[in-house]
Amino acid sequence: MSVASYAILVFLTLARYKAEISTTTSNCMESWCSDDQQCRDATNEDCKDGTSLDCQCKSNYTRGLIVTCYEAYSDKAKHVYSVPIAQNGTPIPDPIWSHRFPTSVLTLRVDVDNIQQNAYIYHSTQHSIYKNPNYNYGNSTENLWTILSKGISSGVVSLAVDWVSHNIYWTDPTFKWIMVQSLSSSDTSMFRVLIQENLYRPQALALDPTDALLFWSDIGRFTTIEVSSLSGRNRKTIVLSNLLRTNGLAADHQGQRLYFADTERDTVETVTYDGTDRKILLAKSYSSLIDVAVYQDTLYVGDRSKLYVVNKTNGNAFGMEIGEDVYGYAGVAVFHDEVQPVTDRCQNYGCAHICLTELDGATCICKDGYHLNEDNKTCSFTSAYFHRALVFSNASRICILDITVLADFVFDPVCVLETTGTKYMAMDTDQRNMFIANDTAIYWTSVDNPKLQLLTEISGSISGMSWDGYDRNLYWAEDDTGTIYKTSIETREAKVFLDGLAKPRDVLILPHHRLVYWISERNGSTIESSNINGTHQQIVLQYNDSLKWTSLSYNPYKYRLYFLGVNEDEEKTSIISCNLDGSKRTSNVAMYYVLNMLEIYKGYTMVTSDEDEVTTIWFYSLDDIDYMTEGECTGAGRISVIKVFDENNRQNETGPCFILNGGCEQICMPNGMSKICKCVFGFMLAEDGKTCISDPVKDDFMLVGDVSHKNMYQIRLNDTSVQGIKAKGIKPRYDPIHDRVIWLTLFGKNVYSMYLNGTGQTCFPIGMYLDASYN
Ligand SMILES: *[C@@H]1O[C@H](CO)[C@@H](O)[C@H](O)[C@H]1NC(C)=O
Ligand SMILES: *[C@@H]1O[C@H](CO)[C@@H](O)[C@H](O)[C@H]1NC(C)=O
Ligand SMILES: *[C@@H]1O[C@H](CO)[C@@H](O)[C@H](O)[C@H]1NC(C)=O
Ligand SMILES: *[C@@H]1O[C@H](CO)[C@@H](O)[C@H](O)[C@H]1NC(C)=O
Ligand SMILES: *[C@@H]1O[C@H](CO)[C@@H](O)[C@H](O)[C@H]1NC(C)=O
Ligand SMILES: *[C@@H]1O[C@H](CO)[C@@H](O)[C@H](O)[C@H]1NC(C)=O
Ligand SMILES: *[C@@H]1O[C@H](CO)[C@@H](O)[C@H](O)[C@H]1NC(C)=O
Ligand SMILES: *[C@@H]1O[C@H](CO)[C@@H](O)[C@H](O)[C@H]1NC(C)=O
Ligand SMILES: *[C@@H]1O[C@H](CO)[C@@H](O)[C@H](O)[C@H]1NC(C)=O
Ligand SMILES: *[C@@H]1O[C@H](CO)[C@@H](O)[C@H](O)[C@H]1NC(C)=O
Ligand SMILES: *[C@@H]1O[C@H](CO)[C@@H](O)[C@H](O)[C@H]1NC(C)=O
Ligand SMILES: *[C@@H]1O[C@H](CO)[C@@H](O)[C@H](O)[C@H]1NC(C)=O
Repeated sequence: MSVASYAILVFLTLARYKAEISTTTSNCMESWCSDDQQCRDATNEDCKDGTSLDCQCKSNYTRGLIVTCYEAYSDKAKHVYSVPIAQNGTPIPDPIWSHRFPTSVLTLRVDVDNIQQNAYIYHSTQHSIYKNPNYNYGNSTENLWTILSKGISSGVVSLAVDWVSHNIYWTDPTFKWIMVQSLSSSDTSMFRVLIQENLYRPQALALDPTDALLFWSDIGRFTTIEVSSLSGRNRKTIVLSNLLRTNGLAADHQGQRLYFADTERDTVETVTYDGTDRKILLAKSYSSLIDVAVYQDTLYVGDRSKLYVVNKTNGNAFGMEIGEDVYGYAGVAVFHDEVQPVTDRCQNYGCAHICLTELDGATCICKDGYHLNEDNKTCSFTSAYFHRALVFSNASRICILDITVLADFVFDPVCVLETTGTKYMAMDTDQRNMFIANDTAIYWTSVDNPKLQLLTEISGSISGMSWDGYDRNLYWAEDDTGTIYKTSIETREAKVFLDGLAKPRDVLILPHHRLVYWISERNGSTIESSNINGTHQQIVLQYNDSLKWTSLSYNPYKYRLYFLGVNEDEEKTSIISCNLDGSKRTSNVAMYYVLNMLEIYKGYTMVTSDEDEVTTIWFYSLDDIDYMTEGECTGAGRISVIKVFDENNRQNETGPCFILNGGCEQICMPNGMSKICKCVFGFMLAEDGKTCISDPVKDDFMLVGDVSHKNMYQIRLNDTSVQGIKAKGIKPRYDPIHDRVIWLTLFGKNVYSMYLNGTGQTCFPIGMYLDASYN
């Protein structure tokens, strides 16, 4: 990507001081108007807003906050404020400097390197992290923001600086990774994905450079807080219950405690570094608590309309406003000069690229696209472009784009191969191969040394292709012959996998589920599946919506199938999804275009549409449906296939809970790189650590149904202990004679019964008279 296309659209506006502030502390004037003789001689009155004297701030505050705000509505409001704090932690409410970014900003996060005196800000609409050197001198001309890293998703990105070894870490909840970049080098390509396995949506981030610990929150199906070393080793989940949307984290080395703000629980809470002794410090209903920072005994917490200053011990808090017309304090960081001397284990360690601190030493890692040599210090080039890329094909070429195109559209392709009429592609990330099919044949090539080799010729009309990385077979469908074939690089022999199908297309292998899916054309489109050994062929989803279904894809983070439903007459397309068994079908997004392709990578969904021989790619975030970006692939003609290649995202490396719920009957909670099975309310984990059991009561109980979740429970009357019933339904009744519980399904269509221990379930004829009463 050309750097020139990213003009630095940042400027700085000076804050003027108001006379009232100077009365807050008597020596303010002096330090504010230090260098300039005219200012030094000025009185408080002279420095008042609107007077001719424009005293520029040249103070050397050694202690303060950098506070960032959401989009500011009026020109008076600024996006970034630098605010001094008094020795007892209380902010002096008028900023020493502030400025406004020229582009709109939805979220901003901030952290500082107190040794190098640099501030770093994440700017969501610029998809970038900016650096500002010498932030605390209040020297406006030096407060220049320059781009440090770009191509970051829009969203709740957090950043944290290791000011001992000078690295910056940030989360990207849509790319679902934690990134690290060296700040010791002026080369801004010194970054690497540090952690991406077993992450759903990493958001808040904090670190303790002295203890070499990294903390983050992961907003998955269950929100957790994890800790690892600064090199990502020794991952552990330290908080795994009662979290909703933990958007802010701060680590307090002094007290060995973690502070976190949960935007949905409306709380600021604390736990020790090992996750024990949890306490709620602040609870504010209808708030929007986002970021949190800690300095000595004080926490600073950003909310929609206030910045809370909280005593970290007893939770006493007061809210204050900074600046004018501010809507929401999104980020807060503390700068100070009380930096304890800490040994930088990276100093003189000799890493060629990036050095990460560990408690017992240092670790070298290489920037993206490079691998560590045997000396564990130097790095060698791995691959030119193909470590993480969006690959596309048009009528004549296969070309690639850097994966950051998903966050920030820049169409600057590098073409790697000439082909003719490519219709389908499949990626073998383990062996770094690519499969390419056109109407006459399927070819394969290594991605590192692109050269087409014939895999097999095809006789029918190819209508889909997918790679099984587990058994290393390639599957393809032919709609005219009604057949799905498979072959491998080793045999290059086409074998019939299934035949007699109704116009199969878009074959999709889920290697680790050992399942094959495809779309068929019966009376309308259907989704069908079979085991990978060809057994248990079935129709998974069928309903007459008179749309043509295409582009079947799988989203491993949601365990769901996604496909397009095209209405060509009305030029309209829906993005439809359902569970693997066809249940819970929803139509996610409807667009007034005919969409051709759909590809899913991490939190991104990509779709394409063609108009006048130009393809437009649309990018959606599946977690945050508001977020969408689009771009025209100008100069590439019609694009026939898009696929993502990510060498680090092998199908089964996403984590232990991603496949078949980690073997857990009810809840699979990620725990670092492993998992823990848990049970819902009313059940206990059995000895096998996977199944959930309850202890049915024979006597003296009450049956209750939880209508919103359709769960049913027995409540023991002598001690109100609760036991779950293993069935979903409403209006449970007990039949003491047969020792059976009887219930209805939601619309009363079926009546079921079973023994309290969960066995012997039967379905009664509809309309049966129910004469059961509470026991
Ligand atoms: C502020 O700090 C700079 C750099 O250390 C120094 O040159 C300058 O004299 C200081 N100004 C004041 C007013 O202390
Ligand atoms: C403020 O910045 C300007 C321009 O970078 C520099 O010349 C000047 O010395 C700085 N003043 C202080 C007090 O750091
Ligand atoms: C915070 O609370 C603790 C415990 O109540 C108290 O000792 C301390 O003085 C308070 N700190 C401030 C700055 O008020
Ligand atoms: C490099 O690291 C590996 C794994 O930690 C270790 O086995 C090996 O001895 C190290 N090599 C050198 C040269 O230090
Ligand atoms: C398929 O690709 C091969 C190799 O690029 C080419 O020779 C052949 O003509 C193509 N077939 C079609 C139908 O485009
Ligand atoms: C379409 O529906 C008709 C009548 O319901 C049925 O006989 C026929 O088999 C169906 N066609 C397919 C391809 O399923
Ligand atoms: C096919 O796979 C299913 C599921 O993995 C298994 O239950 C079944 O026994 C297999 N059948 C054959 C014939 O291998
Ligand atoms: C499906 O719906 C379309 C349009 O609503 C209708 O023409 C067609 O007959 C329907 N097919 C079946 C099998 O119900
Ligand atoms: C395919 O895309 C490449 C890269 O944009 C372009 O150079 C080439 O002309 C395109 N081919 C066609 C047939 O449009
Ligand atoms: C993927 O899973 C298989 C089977 O569980 C395992 O043997 C293999 O080592 C895994 N691969 C990676 C790269 O983790
Ligand atoms: C309630 O009854 C159960 C037996 O049904 C007994 O095991 C339990 O100890 C009783 N609890 C109390 C508080 O009496
Ligand atoms: C469940 O309860 C029924 C009736 O009380 C009993 O006949 C059956 O053996 C029980 N099954 C198990 C697995 O405990």
